[in-house]
Amino acid sequence: MCGIVGYIGKRDATPILLEGLRRLEYRGYDSAGIALQSDGKFQVRKKKGKIDEGLARLLASNAIQGCAGIGHTRWATHGPPSDENSHPHLDQSGRIAVVHNGVIENFERLKERMIRDGHKFVSATDTEVLAHLIGEHYMKVKGQKGDRHPLTQAVMNALREVIGTYGIAVLSVDYPGVMVGARRGSPLLVGVGEGEHFLASDASAVVAHTRQVAYLNDYDVATIEAGRFDVTSLGSDTAKVQISQLEFGAEAAEKGDFAHYMLKEIFEQPRTVRNALRGRMDLEEGMPKFGGLNMTTAELREVDQIVIPACGTSWHAALIGEYLFEEFAHIPTEVEYASEFRYRNSPLEKHTLVLVITQSGETADTLAGLRESRRRGHKVLAICNVVGSTIAREADGGIYLHAGPEIGVASTKAFTSQVSVLTLFALMMGRIRMLSNSRGMHVMRALENAGDQIEKVLEQNDAIRKIAMKYAASEDFFFLGRQYNFPVALEGALKLKEISYIHAEGYPAAEMKHGPIAMIDEKTPSVFVIPSDGMYEKSFSNLEEIKARKGPVIAIATEGNARIRDRVDDVIYIPAAPEPISPLLSVIPLQLLAYHIAVARGCDVDKPRNLAKSVTVE
Ligand code: M6R
Repeated sequence: MCGIVGYIGKRDATPILLEGLRRLEYRGYDSAGIALQSDGKFQVRKKKGKIDEGLARLLASNAIQGCAGIGHTRWATHGPPSDENSHPHLDQSGRIAVVHNGVIENFERLKERMIRDGHKFVSATDTEVLAHLIGEHYMKVKGQKGDRHPLTQAVMNALREVIGTYGIAVLSVDYPGVMVGARRGSPLLVGVGEGEHFLASDASAVVAHTRQVAYLNDYDVATIEAGRFDVTSLGSDTAKVQISQLEFGAEAAEKGDFAHYMLKEIFEQPRTVRNALRGRMDLEEGMPKFGGLNMTTAELREVDQIVIPACGTSWHAALIGEYLFEEFAHIPTEVEYASEFRYRNSPLEKHTLVLVITQSGETADTLAGLRESRRRGHKVLAICNVVGSTIAREADGGIYLHAGPEIGVASTKAFTSQVSVLTLFALMMGRIRMLSNSRGMHVMRALENAGDQIEKVLEQNDAIRKIAMKYAASEDFFFLGRQYNFPVALEGALKLKEISYIHAEGYPAAEMKHGPIAMIDEKTPSVFVIPSDGMYEKSFSNLEEIKARKGPVIAIATEGNARIRDRVDDVIYIPAAPEPISPLLSVIPLQLLAYHIAVARGCDVDKPRNLAKSVTVE
């Protein structure tokens, strides 16, 4: 939520900040702004709305120049989207500028005190209060000689008074060429260039300039100049940061010839699923292998319960994981909303493995679940996409998805990669218990095939678009499935809701008759995931119950099932696959349906209203 970027070097900062903000726009797009240091004052431009409609236009008519600057793209928390509430914010003296991602929980109390002391505020944000607080401390230490730069010292003193989360970038007009960054709970990294440095919420904002980054840890405070940076910590005497090499280049974060990132990412799935599996299958032995679990086979064998905290799409992948762990390894598995899990006192047995799932590795609730579990002495593994993210670094071990940057707010390729990795991990947990070699080989062969099968589903894109056009005006949808395809139904409903704003609900198909079927009429379509598996006949009866109430049905069925064509309004075929593998195929038409319906309704697919890609606040 919110993206921040900073630059210090010899080049003109404006285009660098603007491009960085465009790459971070998936984190929030209520407003955007930049502030540059120049000739002893700040030049600030900020505007409500998406970057190209607001800030970029403002800069085109009212340009600013400077070699040091900070920028921000906002997802509103305190104060509605407006020019005044846009970042950067200045302190009382106008000599300090701040951009901030996070929530200052005690801002009201600080603000009341400052108002009594004569401060004037122009916005409703918590960030402006933080800027004033830094400004107050700055006035006390400015000009002093000490071990630390005065701006760093002022930021540290102010942050000691703050309760809440922050990733910040701070400039002072008195110290041209110095920028301070700090984090607690919101991601921040330093991009290390030649004679220039960057600060950013994530690597996509700097990868066009450098592949070398240093991820900051909570309580780190970085002092950054063109030729050097150093990091100190609010929490301990020493700060440990390492410079690492990004594994993707700028082109991975481009849209290419696709109209939207979401469509590009849907079409990447044959490759991303193969990437998730690459090097992790010993077919001879029917045995998966992972490099980074950091747990011995004996420790893994001791696990007698698995708990999976996650949010959104990752939570849906976790639900598939529940079926997989129970089927392959007979390990009781619970899936938890991370936002609930973090505050519950769930009784976790000694040998419970906590497995967090997250694309971004920065989701606040999931991170809190991880920390709470570790506090209680449990091993925590993470299934995560973003290398070097906070969750990836704080987990005891884990499995990377290697799906490349996911920019579309609606998660697509991360889901299929998560399910691929979960399938392998559950197989491994089974193989070190009682699962046979031949069963292991059988599932792995099917997984190996999944990339090619997804390609076949994607070939139907035009046909799926036509079906989408037919239903695009509907105002309510149901998504139904059973067993492994129940979480797929939930995921299909979430995709449609979040990008087209159509009311959609996902249900286990057989649950409809316990209430929701009352909603069915000729205007309410149901997308029915009904592959030819062990549940087929039972699912077919559920489908008949919908048809008997005149509900239109779009079936996702297995190739070769001609019978279903006569009973439903539309059918999309997927290749035959073993039941545990079928979600990898059945989710693809649901992603495409949601995409085409949203486009037909004129929605901004990559930047749906009210959302942000990475939810780093509670
Ligand atoms: O980065 P994470 O996987 O932890 O994110 C979790 C959810 O915020 C995310 O899946 C969200 O629900 C997506 N917008 C779904 O498309």
